Amino acid sequence: MRVRTAGRRAADLPLDLTDDNSLERLSALAAAELGPLRVVINTAGLLHDGALQPEKRLSQVRRQALERSFAINAFGPLLLAQAIEAALPRDRPVHFASLSARVGSIGDNRLGGWYAYRAAKAAQNQLLRTLAIEWQRRLPLACVTLLHPGTAATPLSAPFSGTLAPSALFTPARSASHLLDVLEGQSAASSGAFLAWDGQPVPW
Ligand SMILES: NC(=O)c1ccc[n+]([C@@H]2O[C@H](COP(=O)([O-])OP(=O)(O)OC[C@H]3O[C@@H](n4cnc5c(N)ncnc54)[C@H](OP(=O)(O)O)[C@@H]3O)[C@@H](O)[C@H]2O)c1
Repeated sequence: MRVRTAGRRAADLPLDLTDDNSLERLSALAAAELGPLRVVINTAGLLHDGALQPEKRLSQVRRQALERSFAINAFGPLLLAQAIEAALPRDRPVHFASLSARVGSIGDNRLGGWYAYRAAKAAQNQLLRTLAIEWQRRLPLACVTLLHPGTAATPLSAPFSGTLAPSALFTPARSASHLLDVLEGQSAASSGAFLAWDGQPVPW
C-alpha cells in the first residue's frame, strides 16, 4: 500500500507491511519529518490473491497461506504501530485505528471456513487490544480502535459480494465516511474497542 499523510507535512510513500526494511524507512521518516501524527489508519489487509484463496474446508489449509495472512493481517498492523510510535504526541489525543473484519470475531463465527483470514484478523484484534493497554500507560491520550467496515465494493470483496443486495454493499467512500464518524466518537477512555461501521461493538 501507499502511506499517505495529509496536513502540513504531506507524504506519499510505498509501504510493505511484511518487509522490515520498508517499515524501518517509514519509522525513520515518521520520526524525522512526519510527526506529530494525530490520526493513523491502517487500511491494508489480504483475503485472497492468485495463490491464496479463502479455505472452504480443512483439506485446503496451507501453511504458507496461514503465514502470509498472519504477516499482513495480524503482524502488519502491530509493526506499523511500532514504526510510527515515536511520531505520536504524548500530550494530545491520538487515534490509531486498523481495519479488522467481523469474520475475525470468534464469538460471532457461525459459518466457519476462511481459516487463515478469520484467525489472522482475530490475532490482530488481540495484538491491538494488548497495544491499547500498553498505551494507556505510555501514551495516555491515545485511542486504539479495530474497525469492521461493513461489506465494501473493493477487489477484496468482489468474488463474494455477488449475492448481496445492492443496499448491503457500501461504496468505499461510504464505508470510510462511516468509519470516520465512528472514530470521532472514540477517545482514550474507550481505547481497545472493536467496532462496526455503525458504531456497534463486535463480539471478540
Ligand atoms: N471490502 C470489504 O468488504 C471488507 C470487509 C471487512 C474487512 N475489510 C478489511 O478492510 C481492509 C481494506 O480492505 P479492502 O476491501 O480495501 O481491500 P483491497 O481493495 O484488496 O485493498 C487491500 C489493501 O491492502 C494493501 N496491502 C496488501 N498487502 C500489503 C502489504 N504487504 N503491505 C502493505 N499493504 C498491503 C493493498 O495495497 P496494494 O494495493 O499496494 O497492494 C491495498 O491497499 C482490509 O483489512 C480488509 O480485511 C474489508
